[in-house]
Amino acid sequence: MQTMTVGPREIREAVTMREAIDAVRGGFIDLAAGGFEMPTRTALRDGRFLVMSAHHRATASAMIKTLSLNFDRAPAIAGTVVWSETGRVDSLVADAGAVTTLRTGAAVGAATDLLAPADASRLTIIGAGGQAPDQVRAVHTVRPLRELTVVDADPRRAEALAETLAPELTGAHIRTAAEAEAAVGDAEIVCCATNATSPLFAEAALPAQVHVNAIGAFRPTMRELPDELLASSTVIIDELEAILEESGEILHAVESGAITRDDLTELGAALSAPEPPRGKRTVFKTVGVAMQDWAIARLLADKFLP
Ligand SMILES: NC(=O)c1ccc[n+]([C@@H]2O[C@H](COP(=O)([O-])OP(=O)(O)OC[C@H]3O[C@@H](n4cnc5c(N)ncnc54)[C@H](O)[C@@H]3O)[C@@H](O)[C@H]2O)c1
Repeated sequence: MQTMTVGPREIREAVTMREAIDAVRGGFIDLAAGGFEMPTRTALRDGRFLVMSAHHRATASAMIKTLSLNFDRAPAIAGTVVWSETGRVDSLVADAGAVTTLRTGAAVGAATDLLAPADASRLTIIGAGGQAPDQVRAVHTVRPLRELTVVDADPRRAEALAETLAPELTGAHIRTAAEAEAAVGDAEIVCCATNATSPLFAEAALPAQVHVNAIGAFRPTMRELPDELLASSTVIIDELEAILEESGEILHAVESGAITRDDLTELGAALSAPEPPRGKRTVFKTVGVAMQDWAIARLLADKFLP
């Protein structure tokens, strides 16, 4: 019996963003078909500690993740992913921070691939923290970027992200901007990756056609998107139960009457539908679900366990 421990660098070297996107896309389709047992996560101390679990029925495998979250610390996420299978005595323990950024990027990659115009190549990202690099990498994997604009309340963070990504986005024009409103005006894709508690821009600041991903708000008190954008967009979410428990912007928009629950479509259902959802404006809102961590842990188990 062996417990394999996999650190952040090994995770990054073992799993490409393309593999992660394909694994998470498959997981969302399986989730919509009832392939997982996945309780709503436990949030302790108003989300400072999270416990998440998912069991995949067909493979009798399970993932449990525990993490602590502290935005005054870098990285904000620290913790552990544990993988086990009933048919195998060996198990795997992986760094939760690296798994989380990869699987959150992968969900956004799968959604962007489904929803953004085929030729979209201009991305604005708001929030240049720990999640941001994999958000950009995921979008670049499915829609090769020609232009990237990075916005952060802290300009040094925006500059640092631009510098980190420059060698990976060869041929793309990268700039930083101070104001989110101005920076989304000509974007074809927008990624929101902040811990903001109020909308990052007004709906009118966006162009008529745009795809917006929002990963930041994961508590009812947090919001990145205005009600008006949700009301005027095709809204795709990761999982209804989790969203109605945790997504501040969706809860706000439902309570204000801007949208109803019937306006929300799960990504797995959208991926399984014969035609992709239509709409000039599309939004993918994710709070993150345990199936995504399971999907990355499964790739790691396949690569690292004997
Ligand atoms: N949906 C998911 O699956 C998922 C997964 C992991 C993290 N998250 C959430 O995503 C958010 C970002 O995570 P992180 O680890 O990158 O955090 P982080 O603290 O490393 O970075 C957040 C960044 O957002 C910036 N910011 C905050 N408010 C802003 C505003 N109004 N305008 C511009 N910039 C602003 C901050 O300056 C900071 O650089 C957090 O809320 C986190 O909980 C979601």
